[in-house]
Order: sequence, then structure tokens, then C-alpha cells
Amino acid sequence: MSEAKSEFDLSLETARFLQNKIDYIPEYAIILGSGLGSLSKDITIDFEIPYHDIPNFPVSTVQGHKGSLIFGELSGKKIVAMNGRFHYYEGYNMKQVTFPERVFWQMGIRKLVVSNASGGVNRNFKIGDVMLITDHINLFPEHPLRGQNDERFGPRFVNMSEPYSKKMLQVVRKYATENNIRIKEGIYLGLQGPTFETLAEYTMVRNMGGDAVGMSTVPEVIVARHMDMEVFGISVITDIGTAEFIEEVNHEEVLKAAKNSEPVVRELVAKLVELY
Ligand code: HPA
Repeated sequence: MSEAKSEFDLSLETARFLQNKIDYIPEYAIILGSGLGSLSKDITIDFEIPYHDIPNFPVSTVQGHKGSLIFGELSGKKIVAMNGRFHYYEGYNMKQVTFPERVFWQMGIRKLVVSNASGGVNRNFKIGDVMLITDHINLFPEHPLRGQNDERFGPRFVNMSEPYSKKMLQVVRKYATENNIRIKEGIYLGLQGPTFETLAEYTMVRNMGGDAVGMSTVPEVIVARHMDMEVFGISVITDIGTAEFIEEVNHEEVLKAAKNSEPVVRELVAKLVELY
């Protein structure tokens, strides 16, 4: 009986498949979150491939999430964008959720941008705010690095003192300030979903130190940091969950709010890629 291929071998295989289709190594990988897919409009596309045509890739299902990798140019640099991501709540395990990051690293990519929609629990936040993610709290029930560690990716015990690159944050912060773009900063707390939070849970998130809560991002960032990739994270506050102001949140409202703030996210991500 042949042994099952390791995550390392599978991701290398996929990386080689993709690398055969382009003649460059992208500098950035960019994950386009819920409602932020139109970031892809700024990309001069060389090549787009649906997830189901990529060997070893899981396939995305949830409504509002398209599934393809886009290779092309943004702000004069070569990038690859994930149009749609894999969420734990969809039923994927954490190795599947984070497989694309393994592939990106195998391709030689060392910079990752993650975007998402989230619920704000900081009283100073309002719907439509754009929040730079300065740190996160991992409350997912499964850890993407659980199990045997492959030292070729990174160490068993990963230092998480700087999950989000201070240098990248500074570049975007400076640009936003100089151009009068209002941004917030805060801590993203990751929960599995798929339910939005109860009022008691939003209160818990706040008390635990979160500024925003969402159902993605944390696993991808952990795996990227395992491989020492530099990470920038940005979140659109699509609903508010504070005691004074909990409203009825649903997927459509989330997509609508994300769409309204999309131009700002697009500009900030494009500038980061240009300047760093
Ligand atoms: N909670 C969790 N995930 C989310 C939310 C929320 O309020 N808004 C957008 N994604």
C-alpha cells in the first residue's frame, strides 16, 4: 500500500502545477474576503483558474463566494489573488482551509494580504468602518497546526508576537493619514460560525479583548506565520454587536456594507502592494 502524500508534497505538487502556467513568482498573495471580490477589478489579469481545476484544492461552495485564483499585476507588481476562500464552517478541515497558503509559500510567495468582513464590538466603530487588523485572538475549535509538525514549513512552536507585520501596518497607516482616509485599528477575534453572535457572545468578544469578530482569517494567518510569511490584514465592519446597538444582521447586509467600503479597501491594498 502506498503512503498518503504529505501536506508538503501535495502543496508542492499544486505549486508546480500553477508555476508551470506563469513565468514569474508573484510577490503577494491576496485573499479577497466576503463582498470584497471586486478588488480584483484593479488587477490586470494574466490568468484565472477556478479552484476545481487546481489539483489538490478544495472547492468553495457558500453563496457570495466565488472560487478562483487570479494571477496578474496590481500596482506594478505580480500578485495572485484568491477570489473566495475556504471557511471552516463550510465543513472543510483546517488543513483544507489553509492549503492555499501552503501552496503560495511553495511557489515562493512571502507576503500575504487577508481581507474579511466582521462584526464590530468596539463602541467607537460604525458600519462601514475599515479596520486594520493589528492582532488576533484564536477561538476556533480546531488548530491548523495540530498534528505532526513538518519542519520544512516551520517550527513546532510558532512565535505569534507579530502576526500582522508592523512594517506593513505602518506603510498603510501613514498613507491613510497623509490622504485623510479614516481608518480604525483593532483586534480580530475568530469564531467558527456559521451563526452570527448572540448579544451575550458579542459582549464576551468585547470582554475578551476583541474589537471585531469574524469567521475566517485566523487559520490562514497562523499557517502563514508558521512559514514566516509577512501578513497584512484588513477588515470591513459590516454590522455592530454592542449592547446599545445590536441590529439584525444577515448575509445580504454584510455583503452590502462590505461593498460600500470596498473602494477604501481597494485603495489601501493597492497602495501597500505599490509601496512595500
Ligand atoms: N460575526 C461574525 N462574522 C461576521 C460578522 C459578525 O457579526 N459580520 C461579518 N462577519
